[in-house]
Amino acid sequence: MKVKFLATAAFGACMLFAGSNISFAGDKSPGYKLVKANGCLACHSVDQNKVGPSYKVIAQTNKKLYAKDAIKHIEEAIEKGSKGVYKKLGITAVMPPYGYLGKEKIETIAKWILSQSK
Ligand code: HEC
Repeated sequence: MKVKFLATAAFGACMLFAGSNISFAGDKSPGYKLVKANGCLACHSVDQNKVGPSYKVIAQTNKKLYAKDAIKHIEEAIEKGSKGVYKKLGITAVMPPYGYLGKEKIETIAKWILSQSK
């Protein structure tokens, strides 16, 4: 009885934590909604490389390469597209430009992507 209660409490705490930062399939954050609504998930997933690199890898790579400016580079890649950055991972496809989304949406998405790595 006691054990079951503890397990439930721990699970609840995890869900709260997950909601605040880490994404999972049911992510309700505005950034994730935009990524889903705009077809990004056809090529990207949060933590697995597909046609494009995972958002976790993108966040880590940009943090490593650009530190504080990572957010700017991610925004620019969404706006103008990108190619060749992830060649080492065997990714040779091209990221199409999404400038038509507008600055505000791109900013929201970029912040969300960056939050996928800690
Ligand atoms: C047709 C497939 C495809 C779609 C759709 C797509 N991407 Fe990409 N994306 C890629 C590929 C391939 C790369 C890797 C490009 C490279 O190696 O530079 C990439 C890279 C990126 C990067 C990293 C760029 C960098 O320089 O670090 C970001 C950020 C990104 N995509 C965001 C998005 C967002 C946001 C959307 C939806 C609005 C989206 N992508 C839709 C294929 C796609």
